[in-house]
Amino acid sequence: MALCLVCGAPQETVLDFGAMPIANGFLTPDQFASEPLFPLCVGFCPACAMLQLTETVRREVMFNENYAFYSSTSTRMAAHFKSFADMVMADYLDADGMVVEIGSNDGIMLENFSRAGIRHLGIEPSANVAAAAAKKGVNTTVRFFDDSLADEILQEHGPVSAFLGANVMCHLPYINSVIAGIRRVLRPDGVLIFEDPYAGDIVRLTSYDQIYDEHSFYFSVTSVCRLFERHGMEVIDVIPQPVHGGSMRYVIGLRDARPRKPSVDAMLEKENAMGLDRIETYHRFRENVEKSRDQLMRLLDDLRRSGARVVGYGATSKSTTVITYCGITPEHLEFICDTTPIKQGKFSPGAHIPIKPTRDFSDRYPGHALLFAWNHAEEIMAKETAFRASGGRWIHYVPNVKVE
Ligand code: SAH
Ligand code: TYD
Ligand code: ZN
Repeated sequence: MALCLVCGAPQETVLDFGAMPIANGFLTPDQFASEPLFPLCVGFCPACAMLQLTETVRREVMFNENYAFYSSTSTRMAAHFKSFADMVMADYLDADGMVVEIGSNDGIMLENFSRAGIRHLGIEPSANVAAAAAKKGVNTTVRFFDDSLADEILQEHGPVSAFLGANVMCHLPYINSVIAGIRRVLRPDGVLIFEDPYAGDIVRLTSYDQIYDEHSFYFSVTSVCRLFERHGMEVIDVIPQPVHGGSMRYVIGLRDARPRKPSVDAMLEKENAMGLDRIETYHRFRENVEKSRDQLMRLLDDLRRSGARVVGYGATSKSTTVITYCGITPEHLEFICDTTPIKQGKFSPGAHIPIKPTRDFSDRYPGHALLFAWNHAEEIMAKETAFRASGGRWIHYVPNVKVE
């Protein structure tokens, strides 16, 4: 029986996806035979109200010098992180303040602090993306953050004013060690500000493709409040974000150090009404996921039988869950196009669908494109108008399966 990663109590099973490959494990044909699989299953701890994986993958298997996700592939995300940095500078930082970011990737957020001449440190274990950050002038150390790194940071940089994380806190199954480390490096008035995909949006939109090996947790305000209470810390503000299909930003201080804004209680009430703290809500979610899978496969099977050309758009980590769980094969999708150089020329995890540059898409438009990077729809639709004009149709599966 799986135990809660936060409190150690037994988890209740919500949704078992079966065997999965590594979500960002794009590979070459010589690696097909030794491709690792692991069980992907989501559970819920009623005591913590925490939705989480029942089994996690060793961190070095996912985050290493071949990490395939580069944050700066989206211009909209670059603008988002500039405004995140501006908010931190305006509200939480004084002139000699120190900023630390975990999961700083290719420097998409910290480059804003570097340009402003602010003391900063990125902690990023994936050496290839960290090297891209260093090239931009972002101070980066290639390490995994947890409590064992806290003393070193304190000695080298002194107490931290703002500790930041985007799409990384939910990646850390050893979360208690991470929070203990953050608490120790923070100034008494320092803040932790992080954002991650929001459980409320995952349930509302049936965006089950947020569930994959890297995402150990699917946070809500309720579960995050309970988590930080255990560590003598307090959520003082929550701010919904429109990125990655619906995210939540949490501002957290030491207990009683700063006033708590009304946004926190308002969101707790909303989550109670939505049932995010109750297992029944997640059982309904599972039924919706199964329906979504059946509808998508009916559509893709029909298109395959009719001989239509269909390609995938965006080799996201999310797509690994959809492809594997639904049973999408190279017979359904001719290839998946993606702008990331390290993914091109490789094959998708599990189903081994070829990954091609976006040029292969625009050189000869297919009849249909399955939008795996649906969270970047606005940015993609703005530059792919010629595809629709050629008679091409987009296939969406969030929040519902539809062709347009
Ligand atoms: N913040 C970026 C990247 C998110 S991807 C963005 O929002 O786009 C998650 C990143 O966290 C990866 O680059 C991964 O290498 C890094 N990471 C994983 N475990 C970590 C840890 N223990 N400490 C710091 N970074 C970690
Ligand atoms: P993303 O949805 O941000 O993340 P995840 O891997 O966590 O699901 O990934 C977007 C992917 O789509 C990334 O590989 C880059 C690619 N992409 C394009 O190919 N074209 C685009 O215009 C954009 C914005 C992204
Ligand atoms: Zn628990």
